[in-house]
Amino acid sequence: MDLTGQIANFHFNHILLNAAGVKCQTTAELDQVLASPYSGSVVTKSATPMTRPGNPSPRYYQLPEELGSVNSMGLPNEGFAYYLDYVLNKKTDKPVFFSVAGLTKDDNLAMLMELEQSNFNGLVELNLSCPNVPGKPQTAYDFEATRAILTEVFSFFTKPLGVKLPPYFDMVHFDMIAAVLNDFPLAFVNTINSIGNGLAIDPHTDTVVIKPKGGFGGLGGSLVKATALANVRALRERLNESIKIIGTGGVTSGRDVYDLVLCGADLVEVGTQLMVEDTPVFERLEGELANELDKKDYQSLAEIRGKLQIIS
Ligand code: SIN
Repeated sequence: MDLTGQIANFHFNHILLNAAGVKCQTTAELDQVLASPYSGSVVTKSATPMTRPGNPSPRYYQLPEELGSVNSMGLPNEGFAYYLDYVLNKKTDKPVFFSVAGLTKDDNLAMLMELEQSNFNGLVELNLSCPNVPGKPQTAYDFEATRAILTEVFSFFTKPLGVKLPPYFDMVHFDMIAAVLNDFPLAFVNTINSIGNGLAIDPHTDTVVIKPKGGFGGLGGSLVKATALANVRALRERLNESIKIIGTGGVTSGRDVYDLVLCGADLVEVGTQLMVEDTPVFERLEGELANELDKKDYQSLAEIRGKLQIIS
């Protein structure tokens, strides 16, 4: 059975990888994701120019009854140079994603310039959607700011580049972001980042469950699946065919992966469930995905990709 994917000139033998932020902050974690025979790739934790401790703990909380998670990590990472050193020296046959999330436009431009001038030959993700840095709005909710940064980026950047997007909730906003993205030679978009600024309460203590931002944090896991499907579907319907889609959000089973592919995803990232099960999750999900395809006599993901049916 063909469970592979393709973005730009990169071939992925498996379509699953980690979502940036999960199991990708240290070289040991990155190695662990790459070492899984069932991962197609790894994405680094979104880097800032310098090492960042992130927000105070507790900053990640697993919600009950498999609902998902709420986090306000605040971009803890080892700094741009750490990840550049890793990707330049790591020996792997798998394509690698390097994610950057500067806190300012200039930080992003500087990191992308260094990547452009380096020998890095993988894919680059520009994260425009972290909801967890106090005082910093998610850039991709500002369509003009998104256009402005992409205009500057593509004045010098020639390597395969994608953007990580926040979820959108309005059909007009799908149209507006797609109109911006279609004006640039993007290799991919990654949708969705966590649903920003949810709030969970511990009923025993009447207290929020995470410390940063008074308890407000990004939602992930099962409770965001419908939003992830809608964003993958809406963007697949609107984006140029050359812009591939990484579907992220709400994956706990092989059927969830299948549904994201049905909506148009080329690759699928796993976040909350990777936190829960660690890297064995890739084997379980791929096995369940193969079963789903087998049940319907499909031999490849290509047969279902983007083939969601609607009721006429
Ligand atoms: C975080 O570090 O707060 C999460 C990263 C992200 O949402 O992009």
